[in-house]
Amino acid sequence: MKLGFIGDVVGKPGRKMIKRYLPQIKKELELDFIVANYENASHGFGLTAKNAKELFDARIDLMTGGNHTWDKKEIIPLLEELPLLRPINYPEGVPGRGFKIIDELNLAVINIMGYFTMPMVENPFIAANKIVEVLRGEGIKNIFIDFHAEATSEKRAMFLMLKDRISALAGTHTHIGTDDLCIDGGAGYVTDVGLTGCRDNVIGMKEDVPIKRFLTGLPGHFDVPDKCKAILQMIVFEFDREGRCVDASKIKAYDDEGWQIVHKARVE
Ligand code: FE2
Repeated sequence: MKLGFIGDVVGKPGRKMIKRYLPQIKKELELDFIVANYENASHGFGLTAKNAKELFDARIDLMTGGNHTWDKKEIIPLLEELPLLRPINYPEGVPGRGFKIIDELNLAVINIMGYFTMPMVENPFIAANKIVEVLRGEGIKNIFIDFHAEATSEKRAMFLMLKDRISALAGTHTHIGTDDLCIDGGAGYVTDVGLTGCRDNVIGMKEDVPIKRFLTGLPGHFDVPDKCKAILQMIVFEFDREGRCVDASKIKAYDDEGWQIVHKARVE
């Protein structure tokens, strides 16, 4: 099976790129399932019901979250009604769920959040071990993880801990794509997919507030620009019948220049 994963979708420019390119990418590459991270999809902070519909209509099948999952209050009922995840390592009793099984594809998608600079959550490594064992015990072959974390070291360590037991792990949250796409021990990996949204500013947000913050230490509200140079970034993983990753590619689209595979995974 082929799974497409789009990283952090940032605001309207990100949603626009998905509407423009995703239906044709899904069709041309014959993708079975598309996952994207929604936590910045509605003006950079959280997800509204309207924008969720827009993204599902553009052929996304399931969406993952992160530390910004809670920024729009209307997310709480949506977590029950729609195929939306929030990180699995929030404590018991927090609304929503951190994984979903798609029976017809023998696929499970897990959303986990890191420790470094993140809200106080349960240990992501212990949570990951626990859920992966449960899913394997249920006979799930294809296991995909969105690890929403700041530190590259955390993402690498998580992948190396799990690689013999999962199909692929891709990082989100930093918004900057890394060039380390690989297949190691039969599992696909990239430290960060990179954002889908504006590419000519600071992680998808207008640069004035971040620059002021770095110059003065004063706070300010980050804002998604109305107009910008946009990018779509996506990883396509192919899994065999045993749930091992056999192929992985990075796809990029810039503005209206069309989409292309920019590189293939190195096989270790
Ligand atoms: Fe995040």
